[in-house]
Amino acid sequence: MLLDSLPRYSLGFLPTPLHSLPNLSARLGGPAIWVKRDDQTGLATGGNKTRKLEYLLGEAQTQGADTLITIGAPQSNHARQTAAAAARAALKSALVLRGAAPTDRTGNILIDDLIGAEVFWAGARADDEALNEVADELRARGQRPYVIPLGGSNPIGAVGYVTAMLELVEQAKAAGAYFDAIVFATSSGGTQSGLVLGDWLTSYADRIVGISVDHPAEALVPRLIDLAAATAERIGLSINFSADDFEVNDHYLGGGYAVMGEPEREAIQLCAQTEGLLVDPVYTGRAMAGLIDLIRTGEFKAGQTVLFWHTGGTPALFAYVKQLARPA
Ligand SMILES: Cc1ncc(COP(=O)(O)O)c(C=O)c1O
Repeated sequence: MLLDSLPRYSLGFLPTPLHSLPNLSARLGGPAIWVKRDDQTGLATGGNKTRKLEYLLGEAQTQGADTLITIGAPQSNHARQTAAAAARAALKSALVLRGAAPTDRTGNILIDDLIGAEVFWAGARADDEALNEVADELRARGQRPYVIPLGGSNPIGAVGYVTAMLELVEQAKAAGAYFDAIVFATSSGGTQSGLVLGDWLTSYADRIVGISVDHPAEALVPRLIDLAAATAERIGLSINFSADDFEVNDHYLGGGYAVMGEPEREAIQLCAQTEGLLVDPVYTGRAMAGLIDLIRTGEFKAGQTVLFWHTGGTPALFAYVKQLARPA
């Protein structure tokens, strides 16, 4: 297996902590809940992109790139972490963000600005069109951009969550913990594909449950199958995955991507008030709201142990001040 010989640039504070959430567990009265703290990976507050970027940056360096370029939503955690990774490696960063420039440059956009990323607004252009146009513009200027797709979710980035699964298995063994299910936010699929491939290697988990934040399962699962197979190939394995290998729960899409509703608000407040743990309005708050509902409806029960894999997103909290702050 090629896992140990792939180009990798060390960025993360790894292994990330693994610990129990006794107060939240007691409040919900169901299974014991633990958390894997990938919100603490480092890189301008941390998040799941750090692990992907270690491999993407490794590849960028072997190609002699001088600029990392990627695309995302205005409050993209992936874009912010890509800019931070570029800064660490003394490269430039270019971020193509969807839509038009907002008047309020807060949350992740503030951090993009602080890092000195060059921000391009995609306007009405489709993702790939905007990304390719900006990459061409950089090349025309003489820069050597390394293009990273949405969410860093290609077979190079997803390797980061294969090694994350190996990390978890070691840690769980050392802690004497076993998890009946691993629950996390899924969107562009690199995290889930990597975890499922890591599980194929370790035969560790019974259930790996991605709570979709934006896509219906029927749209996401085919992408996960392809990405996991391509990631396996990247590490020298030939594996045929099927839909049965991917559990995607799309019951918590609420009002749509980045629309914070009552379930996300409750999850954010409950985690903060019981554990001092911050989850975000877009990804981890939605996934935690899903987990809370699955506990309340008896899908996860007392006697079981469930791991919430925290994938970051904390800076987005500050873009939702109006919806989250106490009235003055
Ligand atoms: C905080 C956070 N959690 C989860 C995800 C979803 O991860 P993936 O895109 O690998 O499915 C993202 C993606 O942007 C994210 O920013």
